[in-house]
Amino acid sequence: MAKGKHTHPRSQVKKLSTLILLTLFMLTLVIIVLLALGILYLPNTTDDSLITDRRKIYESLAEKKEQWTEILSWEPRAFVYHNFLSKEECEHLINLAKPFLAKSSVVDSKTGKSTESRVRTSSGMFLKRGKDKIIQNIERRIADFTFIPVENGEGLQVLHYGVGEKYEPHYDYFLDEFNTKNGGQRVATVLMYLSDVEEGGETVFPAAKANFSSVPWWNDLSECARKGLSLKPKMGDALLFWSMRPDATLDASSLHGGCPVIVGNKWSSTKWMHLEEYKV
Ligand SMILES: *[C@@H]1O[C@H](CO)[C@@H](O)[C@H](O)[C@H]1NC(C)=O
Repeated sequence: MAKGKHTHPRSQVKKLSTLILLTLFMLTLVIIVLLALGILYLPNTTDDSLITDRRKIYESLAEKKEQWTEILSWEPRAFVYHNFLSKEECEHLINLAKPFLAKSSVVDSKTGKSTESRVRTSSGMFLKRGKDKIIQNIERRIADFTFIPVENGEGLQVLHYGVGEKYEPHYDYFLDEFNTKNGGQRVATVLMYLSDVEEGGETVFPAAKANFSSVPWWNDLSECARKGLSLKPKMGDALLFWSMRPDATLDASSLHGGCPVIVGNKWSSTKWMHLEEYKV
């Protein structure tokens, strides 16, 4: 009695297996048709195809105002958030900073020259954290995109570079105890471009472990920018890079600089983020 309970009659087993085979056959046919029509495709991940795809993506999105993320490098960990800030936000930050930068370029009363003014303006000024609604909004967005709380950030710094002005390559992390007292070590930086720059003014990572010439914008880079992995300033774009590796050791490949502006003006804003709360 119990023996026959789990076995099917022969003809029924045959019917079932025919049905299964037929289903598998139909499924294979459907997949072949989808592959042939290009609706379905097999992944092709050679380095060449990645570069081509990246160039294609860049070219198709570069002119749009859409937000999209681009991986620049893993050593250092560097990412571009395209169209991170609106034009209005960029202008707001510039307008807030401008009077203070202009003040520092007062003509020297003794010599009559505005010596050092250029150097001074490029050293920039700080906007207090949470200063107004627009800044609060930007700082909230930075926290969302970096997964680092607002409280860990320094106030936004706004910088202006005129023709010939630059930042020599440096690290954003500190090697002294004094500067890490408030908030601990700097862990990451968000560098926002508030203006386009006609020529020069690129951000360069000379110690990046990457093929420098593989970036889609290689042909547009200045001589200085070709000495590393570089990014061209574009109004509204934000560059996030980490001064620390995921294991919390300092990342020497995060060495970075600002190439000299050749034509135009460069406005940028920097947010430095610490390991812990940064008290203002
Ligand atoms: C670097 O990238 C460029 C552009 O994609 C390529 O022509 C070149 O062969 C690459 N160099 C190396 C060493 O992979």
